[in-house]
Amino acid sequence: MDDAANAEQIAEWNGVLGERWATLQSEIDDIVVPFGAAALQAAAAQPGERVLDIGCGCGASAIELARQVGAQGAVLGLDVSRPMLDVAQARAEAARLPQLAFSEADASAADLPPGRDLLFSRFGIMFFGAPVAALAHLRRALRTGGRAAFVCWRTPRDNPWAMAPLVAARAALGVTPVRSDPHAPGPFAFADDARLRALLADAGFGAIALHRFDAPVTLGATPRLAAESALRVGPVSRFAAEAGPAQRPTIFDAVERALAVVAGADGRVQLGGSAWIVSASNPG
Ligand SMILES: C[S@@+](CC[C@H](N)C(=O)[O-])C[C@H]1O[C@@H](n2cnc3c(N)ncnc32)[C@H](O)[C@@H]1O
Repeated sequence: MDDAANAEQIAEWNGVLGERWATLQSEIDDIVVPFGAAALQAAAAQPGERVLDIGCGCGASAIELARQVGAQGAVLGLDVSRPMLDVAQARAEAARLPQLAFSEADASAADLPPGRDLLFSRFGIMFFGAPVAALAHLRRALRTGGRAAFVCWRTPRDNPWAMAPLVAARAALGVTPVRSDPHAPGPFAFADDARLRALLADAGFGAIALHRFDAPVTLGATPRLAAESALRVGPVSRFAAEAGPAQRPTIFDAVERALAVVAGADGRVQLGGSAWIVSASNPG
């Protein structure tokens, strides 16, 4: 595996982006709860199983998996973000789960403990520069018959929680989106189901199944809170950072106004989210 393939993502997640996510851990956990729960249900971790959680971030899913496998099992959370792993570690210590450990490592290149039963990820597996090589590396950590279960976002078009604020922000600044590589490492890199199936097959996985899972994403209790949330997490936060601080008030106003239009009668802003729940197995 080419070390440079993930260098950009590692620098981002181990820098300002990771620090922001670490600060917002509970808010982000709330946003993705239904998606993570659906992936955990598909994973169906059993007592005593040995699990890898890829891109475990602040540890929510790793902690849940550790509870499910119990004291006889083992869960290792891998992530490249020191700030997020610090949060994960503190939460794990508070939860008193000796079967749970974390490692700061690029999951696509790190030495992985062999013979794992389950490879899991909640939105942490779409950031590899060389996805087939990375997925093949992860598959080799599974025992023969071991399984993978993860959740990744479907197309931006079906994720208005992420795109509606971005569209409003772009319009406010008169920015026309440039066509970028839809498969580039990032939240939507695995959106194309045919490509995702091919990546997994090329990496040696069998029994590949993708199930669409849709759920509302609550951005905030009011349009203002939702705009604040959107400017902290998701594509519009990156757009605002690139536009610079002078444009932030304009962007904020535009996002708040757009979200006010779709807010419920009680002011709450809930927009659609859509993900793939993916399962596969290692034929050996
Ligand atoms: C969208 S966040 C998801 C975090 C967590 N799973 C959650 O659901 O809150 C993506 C995570 O993938 C991690 N990540 C990105 N590239 C990685 C790599 N090559 N190896 C391990 N983790 C990686 C990031 O640091 C980040 O924590």
